[in-house]
Amino acid sequence: IKRVGVLTSGGDSPGMNAAIRAVVRACAYYNVECVGIYRGYQGMIEGDFKEMGPRDVKNIINKGGTILKSARSADFRTAEGRKRAYENLVAAGIDSFVVIGGDGSFTGAEIFNEEYKFPVIGIPGTIDNDIFGTSHTLGYDTALNTVIDAIDKIRDTANSHNRLFFVEVMGRDAGHIALNAGIGAGAEEILIPEEDFGLERLVESLKRSKDSGKTSSIVVVSEGDKIGKNVFELKDYIEENMPEYDVRVSVLGHMQRGGSPSCFDRVLASRLGVKAVETLLEGKSNFMVGLYQDKVTLTPLEQAIKGQSEIDMELVKVSDIVSS
Ligand code: F6P
Repeated sequence: IKRVGVLTSGGDSPGMNAAIRAVVRACAYYNVECVGIYRGYQGMIEGDFKEMGPRDVKNIINKGGTILKSARSADFRTAEGRKRAYENLVAAGIDSFVVIGGDGSFTGAEIFNEEYKFPVIGIPGTIDNDIFGTSHTLGYDTALNTVIDAIDKIRDTANSHNRLFFVEVMGRDAGHIALNAGIGAGAEEILIPEEDFGLERLVESLKRSKDSGKTSSIVVVSEGDKIGKNVFELKDYIEENMPEYDVRVSVLGHMQRGGSPSCFDRVLASRLGVKAVETLLEGKSNFMVGLYQDKVTLTPLEQAIKGQSEIDMELVKVSDIVSS
């Protein structure tokens, strides 16, 4: 391994810059060259590369987004696109790469490795925390803090007006953000994709809230929840069936993906970035570096893609108890 490529791919997440910095500086530390690949796999296909040294990544550990930019490349899903990417890597003398992204990005890496036997290591970067083989993905902790900060503010106005708010949070197919930020922000109810608790339970719970003297309520709804109604339909439903509630909706959206990474995410990014380079230098490929019981671990990419990052149902019980 003499020249390592690094790219960020898929939805960006806070901590990606810190991971790029760690990869670039680990390469310098171990005397191998490092090349930044722009716009994820799309930049690989278009040969959008830039040599990177330690000073190129100064002052970015605290920045959200990704200096390398990111993309969800449709071209990389085609054999033709991957062939072009391979040819560009070879022409640029790049002999391995580190991809920072989610399961879609890892799937691309896996297929590419199968076709071209190209050494690759994945770093889990997504706010959704939906990757098997790591307790935390880059950006998840920051997103949780962003969400509780936003809900705290919503709570202020909800309280002033005795209102019920449905707050939609991200997490396409995973309820980690909803469940943890929901508990952290003291939500009355939390709806997640992993479990359909049903409308009746929601109505019952809101009734109990009213009866117990609560004046405002927050229901956190994961964007992929399975209750069969989006936040606006939920609002209509509750207003129709529980006229005692004055309901508003707040969709937090992409603000959850931005912002300065938390200390946890910066440290995680630094540890995973260094380990990714070290793993390549040990001659290993097709692994994801992750965190398990606060130790940096390796998981085969295939397992990271296929495995389920499960929701801790204990948290559902905790939420029920502490929101009563
Ligand atoms: O996977 C991260 C994520 O932010 C999801 O939570 C969300 O559903 C999706 O990306 C949004 O993707 P896009 O930015 O392409 O709209």
